[in-house]
Amino acid sequence: MGSQTDNNDFSSGLKSTAEIVEKRLDMLLPSESELPVSLHKAMRYSTLQGGKRLRAILCIWGHRLAGNSYPEEALDAACAIECLHAYTLIHDDLPSIDDDGLRRGLPSCHIRFGEAIALLAGDALQALAFEILSRGARVPDENRIYAIGILSKAAGSRMLVGGQVADLEGEGKRPTEDMVKFIHRRKTAELISASISVGAALETIEPEMIEEIADIGRKAGLAFQIVDDILDQEGDASVVGKGLRKDDKRGKITWPAAFGMASSRDTARALVDECKSRIRALGDDGDLEKLFEYILERIS
Ligand code: IPE
Ligand code: IPE
Ligand code: MG
Ligand code: MG
Ligand code: MG
Repeated sequence: MGSQTDNNDFSSGLKSTAEIVEKRLDMLLPSESELPVSLHKAMRYSTLQGGKRLRAILCIWGHRLAGNSYPEEALDAACAIECLHAYTLIHDDLPSIDDDGLRRGLPSCHIRFGEAIALLAGDALQALAFEILSRGARVPDENRIYAIGILSKAAGSRMLVGGQVADLEGEGKRPTEDMVKFIHRRKTAELISASISVGAALETIEPEMIEEIADIGRKAGLAFQIVDDILDQEGDASVVGKGLRKDDKRGKITWPAAFGMASSRDTARALVDECKSRIRALGDDGDLEKLFEYILERIS
């Protein structure tokens, strides 16, 4: 652990990076007055308000780790990932998926705008993500295409969407190690991995470097979902900003359901420790290491 000053610098770095991302997202999203107004209002509602911006920060700091020649493009890529993430949250909350009425401390998109607009706002946010990512002006084409490839693979049926399907189809089944690993890797870990490796890919397409960064991101992403499962059981609803104590009721395959609470905590700790030492070996200035620690210690 660093000194208190280090930690204060880290917290203000986290906050200021999130603010920069939010300002840029505000510019990149269609305005509320653009037709169809309901659609654009819903997209902005679910993207601009709240959220830890973890994936965006991973993208920007992953880019810094790899060399940092194109900061504006990394910022746009970070915003693209936040748009894609916002779409996944909108769809995840739908009555036909997790049926959750609260997200980021506000009524979920479908509660505020109705199911049809929520579904379509999610669709449009996913398309917007790839539109933004494909625009990078300064980044060489091969880096940009590599980055688009990473994100599209993470978002598709073999990863995020497939993970969501397995999560749904697993409801009520006895949780096994294989099932929970399959689900968590796909529904959450791969997008977190893509967040840091897309940032790095804007700068380098050296396969060994990207694969190492992506694998660290995957481990951090698994720790992230384990902590999400723990927070569902033990978190403070007013801090977390979403409905809690729902996973067990719905019979979800979670890490604590498969391995118990104590073992879940130990696994998350071990994953984060591994991420910290591997990122240090890649020359991290300390910020990513602290970000991995934050994944573990977060209360929201
Ligand atoms: C929630 O992600 C969805 C999961 C993968 C568990 P976050 O906890 O990062 O959500 P926001 O962006 O901070 O609201
Ligand atoms: C969400 O997992 C994963 C995605 C949105 C892809 P959860 O269903 O556990 O996320 P929360 O708890 O609703 O945020
Ligand atoms: Mg879900
Ligand atoms: Mg959910
Ligand atoms: Mg959850």
